Amino acid sequence: MPADRGQAAGQPTISEVAAEAGVGRATAARTLGGYGYVSPELRERVLAAAEKLGYRANALARSMSTGVSHTLGVIVADIGNPFFAGVVRGICDTSRARGFDTIVLSTYENLDEEVAATNVLIDKRVDGVIIASAAVGRREVAHIRAAMDRIPVVLVDRAVASLDLDTVVIDNRDAAREAVETLIAAGHRRIGFVWGPPAAQQPVTRRGLLAEASRNLWTDGERLRGYLDALDDARIPFDPELVMVGRKTEERVTEEVARMLSLPDRITAIFCTETDGVTGALRALRTAGLSCPRDVALIGFDDSAWAAVMEPPLTMIEQPVHRLGAKAAEVLLDAIAGGEPARETHTLRSRLIARSSVAPPPGPHH
Ligand code: RIB
Repeated sequence: MPADRGQAAGQPTISEVAAEAGVGRATAARTLGGYGYVSPELRERVLAAAEKLGYRANALARSMSTGVSHTLGVIVADIGNPFFAGVVRGICDTSRARGFDTIVLSTYENLDEEVAATNVLIDKRVDGVIIASAAVGRREVAHIRAAMDRIPVVLVDRAVASLDLDTVVIDNRDAAREAVETLIAAGHRRIGFVWGPPAAQQPVTRRGLLAEASRNLWTDGERLRGYLDALDDARIPFDPELVMVGRKTEERVTEEVARMLSLPDRITAIFCTETDGVTGALRALRTAGLSCPRDVALIGFDDSAWAAVMEPPLTMIEQPVHRLGAKAAEVLLDAIAGGEPARETHTLRSRLIARSSVAPPPGPHH
């Protein structure tokens, strides 16, 4: 007999237990699902048949009857990215310690994928969802609002201005400002920004960049604002030629950094807002026969083990990735346990790890 939907292949089904017990399927379902009324005599027969056949309750079916699955859903941009892998580790360690399983889905910053992932998790009857969302504008959050109507939702890594939700992020704008201030303190004024909003129109203007940033990933916009804060504080004029815009790929970073290096008044430092930006920039330096930090200084976001063993060891911004995930899970589990969602933003501190990729700009001959 075909397995009931959702029953593992080879496992006895509710229908088979019902036949063995000599009761209707609905009676067996109520008994095994723990809901509705069943007479003691029939309950006894069903449980005996289930034990005889080795029936294992389908967790999804049980959650449908009890309304609780003891499972969290997590939606991130890319589980292969060390940043998100660290965040998910923090979520899983915390949820497991409180008796919850975790289902993780990747969306690759694609909003359609995020909508589909949200629906999958609701169908799986997770008890709550943590989302690092690619959504930004008011119109893009219908899927999150639909989820909020049914289960607790917590945002991690990215805030979404139009949603009044518990959110766990880091101090992106301050971290970016501190990094660029470090480059300015070393004597740099021509500092490339990698990478800016993906769709900023040409010619690039400060206003256009900020407008575009508000329509794209929250973290990118906050880091752009930190870069501009540091330039403004040092009275360094903003030069749109020093900002990479457009499609965000490592290859394009290499192209854009090569362009900035070929300017008559070339860049002498680079601030990268993501790991892919760091590798793309270093590739451009090598192609141009330039070295870091002798010819070009560099600071990037998202410290990692490889950044510390590079030559030179890179000065990077370290995000408390495990703590980000653990905090998001704690906030969500408290909401699931019945706590009224506080709907507040928790901002964790990042750390600038000073290593050896920052030095003063080369002499006037550069
Ligand atoms: O791709 C990972 C990066 O984007 C991290 O800096 C994280 O903050 C995310 O927003």
